[in-house]
Amino acid sequence: MTAGLELEDWVERQCRRSAGFMAKSVSAVGLRKERPGLGQVMVPARGSVLASPVPAAWDPEPDYFFHWLRDSALVMDAASELIRGSADDGERTAWQERWRDFVAFSLRLDRLSGRRLVTGVNLERRVKPAMRPHFRGTAELAAIEGDRLRGEVRFNPDGTLDLLRWTRPQHDGPALRALALLRHAPLCVGDAERDALAGLLRADLTYVARHAGEPCAGPWEEESGRHYYTEVVEAAALLAGAVWAEAGGDAALARTCREAGLRSEAGLDDFVSGDMLAARAGEGSGAALDSAVILGVLHAGRRDSRHGLADPRLLATLDRLCDHFAAAYPLNRAHPEEAPALGRYPDDGYFGGGPWFVTTLAAAELHYRRASLAGADGAADLARGDAFMATVRRLVPEDGSLSEQADAETGAPVSARHLAWSYAAFVTAAAARRRAVDF
Ligand code: NOJ
Ligand code: NOJ
Repeated sequence: MTAGLELEDWVERQCRRSAGFMAKSVSAVGLRKERPGLGQVMVPARGSVLASPVPAAWDPEPDYFFHWLRDSALVMDAASELIRGSADDGERTAWQERWRDFVAFSLRLDRLSGRRLVTGVNLERRVKPAMRPHFRGTAELAAIEGDRLRGEVRFNPDGTLDLLRWTRPQHDGPALRALALLRHAPLCVGDAERDALAGLLRADLTYVARHAGEPCAGPWEEESGRHYYTEVVEAAALLAGAVWAEAGGDAALARTCREAGLRSEAGLDDFVSGDMLAARAGEGSGAALDSAVILGVLHAGRRDSRHGLADPRLLATLDRLCDHFAAAYPLNRAHPEEAPALGRYPDDGYFGGGPWFVTTLAAAELHYRRASLAGADGAADLARGDAFMATVRRLVPEDGSLSEQADAETGAPVSARHLAWSYAAFVTAAAARRRAVDF
């Protein structure tokens, strides 16, 4: 906790620090990470986005030295926010360049082939015995071609396929990347940049149209099923993608996106559970209370009164999450007057299941964004957002570093260090706060 500054000044300072730390995950060509069990020495390529740039090997911090489709899309979306909001030419130019590299890197991933990877080499032999249970196996790798690449979830930051078992497929990543590309499109400079972006966007939209609504693993990479988070970002990407394709004269893609988007949108009602929104479909009432619902609506950028910021069921879901975590975490019980720090879902066991920065910041951002809805009481929304920001502030160490989680009792950093997504969540919450203040 940092004493002395007004909340507003602290938010601005922490936003600048977050942007600086976030930049260290993008094009981290000076880093190197060994995975001796796989015989790998990993040097990130330009345009890759590390989920965390701190090398670790589950000792105890998790190995997040990968380019996740989800995390990288959220980071680059926050980068667009920085480009739009920064008064500093140098900063804007640097992020524009990282964006160009990100698009080029992402296009390069499309050319990977699992079959080529396994042909003529004995990969199994390179894997050390202790690592064998984690190795995906040659047959699984050989099947990764074309359309399958977008379900890969994550890649090595040097632009090669991940050899480890993981929860696959997950379909939210391509939808999130499409949304980030759509929001970045107006910031493109020059034809080459616009064409590269359009190529990647068309391929992402085509994939999302084909797979929207299919069961897959959700954003927390656990069980397979139908996830609200995934489907709400799919619907948003498709409907916005249809408008983009139409404007660009691609009537066929526009029709495909619109039809799939409307189907996807209708499917969102399957997640309504009484007065709230459930994270998974088909689990009966009261089930599936999860912060991923809040994140989904924010990442989708929806403002509607159904499955958007103005949906009363979204607030009811947030209230339920607050009640749960206020009682569940000792650090919240110690500050009963303050907004609670939020975790992912009740009984989360991952690294102790403490509060996450991305989920607590999402509560702040939700209120900030609601301040500009028709009929809103802007001052009250700003104050509600600030209450969550003040809670986040108590969990941020003096140096401004953000991990993935905090300890539920002490607030100490837990799990991955310098999580790029945590920084991205701070940047977008701070931008939403600025807009709420100006409104
Ligand atoms: C379970 C965790 O909850 C999830 O977030 C993580 O990515 C996977 N395990 C990886 O195994
Ligand atoms: C675990 C989270 O559950 C998942 O959403 C994220 O993509 C990875 N960590 C990497 O940050």
